[in-house]
Amino acid sequence: MTVLASLSTGKNGSVLVVGATGFIGKYVAEASLLDGRPTFILVRPGLLCSSKLSTIKALQDKGAIILHGLINDREGMEKILRENEIDIVISAVGGESIVDQFPLVEAMKNVGTIKRFLPSEFGHDVDRADPVEPGLRMYLEKRKVRRAIEESGVPYTYICCNSIASWPYFDNTHPSEVLPPLDQFKIYGDGSVKAYFVAGTDIGRLTIKCVDDVRAINKNVHFRPSCNLYNMNELASLWEKKIGRTLPRVTITENDLLAAAAENIIPQSVVASFTHDIFIKGCQVNFSIDGPSDVDVGILYPEETFRTLDECFTDFFLKLGDNAVDETQTKNPVHEPLPITASCG
Ligand SMILES: NC(=O)c1ccc[n+]([C@@H]2O[C@H](COP(=O)([O-])OP(=O)(O)OC[C@H]3O[C@@H](n4cnc5c(N)ncnc54)[C@H](OP(=O)(O)O)[C@@H]3O)[C@@H](O)[C@H]2O)c1
Repeated sequence: MTVLASLSTGKNGSVLVVGATGFIGKYVAEASLLDGRPTFILVRPGLLCSSKLSTIKALQDKGAIILHGLINDREGMEKILRENEIDIVISAVGGESIVDQFPLVEAMKNVGTIKRFLPSEFGHDVDRADPVEPGLRMYLEKRKVRRAIEESGVPYTYICCNSIASWPYFDNTHPSEVLPPLDQFKIYGDGSVKAYFVAGTDIGRLTIKCVDDVRAINKNVHFRPSCNLYNMNELASLWEKKIGRTLPRVTITENDLLAAAAENIIPQSVVASFTHDIFIKGCQVNFSIDGPSDVDVGILYPEETFRTLDECFTDFFLKLGDNAVDETQTKNPVHEPLPITASCG
């Protein structure tokens, strides 16, 4: 057996998802279950709000096994990993909990049987992107977690999936939970800098494809679907076609974004600093991914398709409901709403 083959998890290795009650973690846990893997989810002890309880119940109904614990409890995590014979650990803890992953890395190193760890990344390549504060603080933490993993010897994969498919509000951590604007567009800078948008279900599905793929061991896996490369002006036009009317476009300047970041209101200022990095500095498109540690998810899985941003915006449009649709059509209709288009590869 080659070294790489021995590092492979084999099909259907058991997966522990940390942060499955969260925004990204839920997509990952659902994809793992859909893939037929033994899927454990780590739930923090304590009181949970009703929406998190219903997320846990829904995952449990699909076959998830609930474990209670904290990743910053090294001994507890060692016990959990050993007793449940976990092969793969995927962490999707939120930005405020990045450093909690250090004890988890220690635990995985001590247990010695973890075949793949995917730390909480799910955004930009944090070794390349360089946002202003307070976003930088989170990236510095993510970089330190990367170094700890690399030192531990636990095989890893860093998922660099770029932006979630939605209107990129500069003050909202989870923009895909919000409809695109109906009053005016806030366009960052001149609106010409492009970014990649990926549906949450595709983030989950392709993440799970990577976990036992030897080609993704110790790599940054980049999500760059060419069909979903849009700038702010194109994004606005796409939404205008859906709602059948134009909206005013207001410029949010680079200085506006820097001022919102400098306010240091967490988490909004973190989002403002990332928005500046994406739509002013072009952090998703200003580097090539041909380094020895890089791999493009589209090259790994050429047969896989991405949901198009067009389809995702159709979903948002349908969420408006009939009344709201009527309302959008009352003012200055310019287009017929677009039909749903095919997925892209
Ligand atoms: N690409 C994008 O557009 C995008 C968008 C958003 C986030 N992200 C990235 O995705 C990752 C996940 O962020 P998110 O916004 O999805 O997170 P989130 O919604 O805040 O959820 C965080 C999850 O982690 C759990 N958690 C936190 N600390 C923990 C600990 N010590 N032990 C066990 N569980 C713990 C939370 O449990 P509780 O339920 O108990 O709170 C929750 O389930 C981050 O790295 C973030 O930067 C990317």
